[in-house]
Amino acid sequence: MNIKLFPVASAVSADALSGATAIVFDVLRATSTIVTALSSGYRRVYPVVNVNEAMQMARERGFCLAGERGGQKITGFPLGNSPLEFSTGPVAGADILVLTTSNGTAAIRSAAAAEKVLTGSIINARAVARAAIYEGRNIVLVCAGSGGLYSLDDILGAGFVLMEIVAAADTAPAMDDQALAALCLARYYKQDPLAGLMDSNHGKKLLGLGLKNDLYWCARLNLYDTAPIFQGNYIEN
Ligand code: MLT
Repeated sequence: MNIKLFPVASAVSADALSGATAIVFDVLRATSTIVTALSSGYRRVYPVVNVNEAMQMARERGFCLAGERGGQKITGFPLGNSPLEFSTGPVAGADILVLTTSNGTAAIRSAAAAEKVLTGSIINARAVARAAIYEGRNIVLVCAGSGGLYSLDDILGAGFVLMEIVAAADTAPAMDDQALAALCLARYYKQDPLAGLMDSNHGKKLLGLGLKNDLYWCARLNLYDTAPIFQGNYIEN
């Protein structure tokens, strides 16, 4: 097994994804939100890049509409991108979600050429690591980044998954230097993942928006035992 990490989703190529298992990370907050929603009673999440497309899908197909831009709920949307909005499950049976976010939903779609695409975060690190090992292919860790730039929270999420992979593997997997750096980062923050999220620039931005509880939630290592799969057009457990 060989592991590669792409620190921003725009850097990943179809060539790198071909025949591999991809794990996509937008720890703050899209993939944490998706994992939370699918572990709390939502049946399916459609990750959508464009706001108008998301609105149209929700209108025409009766889906629940959620999304953010700049960390804040999109005007007119009933739900934003806080995992806490989804942790109590769907309301009135509306259990299919269409979600559009600044970077995360596009990152998930950018990994579509992989053999399998898993949704990774700190809150499901062990489950997603085990699912990827079970697949038995090379692994490509796709970090969403922010506006095309490296984002520490995503690298940290990838690092926690790597820690689980290394702990579970019979032999030490080969990994590139970017994956190795993520592993070292997770080892540095392993006693306190929340500190890692608080140190990150996106974490600081969310703190400034009064979203401290989102950081607490996204830092809860192995809270869930699910590894949601992106297939076709949607994500399911
Ligand atoms: C994103 O897609 O960039 C994020 O999920 C932003 C956020 O809501 O914090």
